[in-house]
Amino acid sequence: MIQFQLETDKALFESAIQFGQKQVKKLIEKSPDFCPMYTQKGKWKHEGAAWTHWCDGFLPGILWLFRRYEADREGKDVDYWKVQAIRYSKPLEVRKNDRDVHDLGFIFLSTYYRWYQVDRNPEHEAVLIEAGKTLALRFREKGQYLRSFVSEDSLFIDIMMNVGIIFYAARATGDKHLREVAVRHALTTRRMLVRGDGSTAHEGLFDTTTGEFVRQATHQGYRADSCWSRGLAWALYGFGTCYEYSRDPHFLETAESCADYYITHSPADGVAPWDFNAPTESRKLLDTSAAAIAASGLLRLSRLLQDPVKGHFYWNTGLRILRSLCEKHLADKEKGWEGILKGGVYHLDKKLGVNESVIWGDHFFIEALEHALRHL
Ligand code: GLY
Repeated sequence: MIQFQLETDKALFESAIQFGQKQVKKLIEKSPDFCPMYTQKGKWKHEGAAWTHWCDGFLPGILWLFRRYEADREGKDVDYWKVQAIRYSKPLEVRKNDRDVHDLGFIFLSTYYRWYQVDRNPEHEAVLIEAGKTLALRFREKGQYLRSFVSEDSLFIDIMMNVGIIFYAARATGDKHLREVAVRHALTTRRMLVRGDGSTAHEGLFDTTTGEFVRQATHQGYRADSCWSRGLAWALYGFGTCYEYSRDPHFLETAESCADYYITHSPADGVAPWDFNAPTESRKLLDTSAAAIAASGLLRLSRLLQDPVKGHFYWNTGLRILRSLCEKHLADKEKGWEGILKGGVYHLDKKLGVNESVIWGDHFFIEALEHALRHL
């Protein structure tokens, strides 16, 4: 029975990755050098607003994942994906000094980090280090957090996915100050944005004069005191990464408590509503990108736990979410749809990318599939 499940999962996941490759090949042939964000009626190219420029690493990140997938199975397309991955990653180098976004982890951990894993070229590591140093400049001593792109007094849960690049730069250079910035930011986020039940707030606001915490708030969630599912998924994954770098058990505990909230509050198939506390009708709107991030985060977290039973449970839950995404949300049945996964939500309030494909959803879906297939 178990063997049968493994074989069906393997076939399902392989076919999803291969569908993803087809979609991405079409996109890069139709619109060379274009980095998408979210679709409108299934099409990547449109005039819709970006809100903030945080997504340019995800398409190249997918290209690196395809390279790795092909390399592991000694596929014939390894070089094709590598050439494309390099072509799409190179132009991002200038962003290593970008002070306008808090997203340098998203941009560089999915691209230059993967590139450096392949060729160990110190020039590529230097880009990662520079990006980590730039992100650390957002640190506010008063309040002890990396400020979000919106304002000086604002801390976002999303930054937990970016702080890893500061840990990376600290480890590569031995710079204790950088490590301290990363640890303090994560401790502040844990204290102010993660609640006792493992749910998370999207944003925290501080008094910039005194550094005192003022209140929780949101931009993309339902309410300040609700749990926006993608924010929770960022926390689940991001605190796991913090634990990997710091080995501080508090961060593992936090990742687990966010994971447990995600699992116990999601429907049986593991695909979460866009906000866990939205009114009943609105909760029918799912966010498949939150599910893809949670799946990938759970697979990673499962390797970090001391308790093998819980590790096994997280691994199997990650697989269960992937199964649901493949079976119910893949865009393969919709002719002309350009994304890989349907049913993502970017910004409901601003009406951007609602029930569409979103490039980070596709990225973390492929990341999780590739990870799972390495072990099945
Ligand atoms: N800005 C990150 C997100 O939409 O999740």
